[in-house]
Amino acid sequence: MKKVNVFAPASIANLGCGFDIMGLALDEVGDVLEMSVRDGDGLTIVNRSGVPLPEDPEQNVITPVIRKFMELTGNRAQVDVVIREKIFPGSGIGSSSASSAAAAFGINELFGAPLSEEEVVLCAMEGENLASGGYHADNAAPAVMGGIVLIRGYEPLDLIKLPVPGDFYCAVLHPHLVVSTKEARSILPPKVDMHAAVAQWGNVGGLVAGLYSGNIGLVGRSMRDAIAEPYRKGFIPGFDELREKVLQSGSLAMNIAGSGPSVFALADRREKARKAGEIFEQHFAARGIDYHSYVVKVSNRGARLIAY
Ligand code: HSE
Repeated sequence: MKKVNVFAPASIANLGCGFDIMGLALDEVGDVLEMSVRDGDGLTIVNRSGVPLPEDPEQNVITPVIRKFMELTGNRAQVDVVIREKIFPGSGIGSSSASSAAAAFGINELFGAPLSEEEVVLCAMEGENLASGGYHADNAAPAVMGGIVLIRGYEPLDLIKLPVPGDFYCAVLHPHLVVSTKEARSILPPKVDMHAAVAQWGNVGGLVAGLYSGNIGLVGRSMRDAIAEPYRKGFIPGFDELREKVLQSGSLAMNIAGSGPSVFALADRREKARKAGEIFEQHFAARGIDYHSYVVKVSNRGARLIAY
């Protein structure tokens, strides 16, 4: 029998302009799985995280990830997974991706790493598909690879790890409002208006240029979303007013985190992120909405083996 403990970080998808094609990994917050393999053919998943998850293994994102790994590598084994730590589902920081990325990375390590990093992401995307009804990698890729990742293309998967200039911090607030990723995707129109598309690809180019050149101002003003936000911001009471306050307090950008309803602010100093976090808290408290909030550093490290 072989056994590993794996950590995969929380992540924030879209980064404003990069709907389905950009995401970043966060420091320290994430999922921990204990995984082992032995002779046989099967999968058990035991949840010891204290976070409620579906009992049915077919509804757990880890199951399709392990199946995809076995399919790609032609292996068979009895795989036993214990979920030790888990980000609360619906928190807006890639809860399903953290489990999917940890499972994909861990199973690959247990078999001597036969898959490339991109193939590990492909396996993790199976979990995302189960959770949200779509094969997007903007949480899964940063959760596996760390840092800020651009998905240049999906067919075939083409991943580019972008530089993170300096120390970036995110304030994230998860309002206790229920909006599933499936629902947040279903309200988006199937076609994009040309004017919005022009704004969006200008911003994607600006964001990539800003990250490579270390131009923090360019990073901030490029993190604007003309495609999904106009539809999704309706889930977040007072969204425009909140953004104005957060930007005035010194953050570089404020956006919906992934498909929402969580919001995040990006700042180039921990203090500024803390300030944004306070504004977030006051905003939702004033509306009688409960929340969880965090201030976390953007991390260059993705899924990894840990001592537990
Ligand atoms: N890119 C996905 C979406 C992320 O916006 O629907 C889901 O977290």
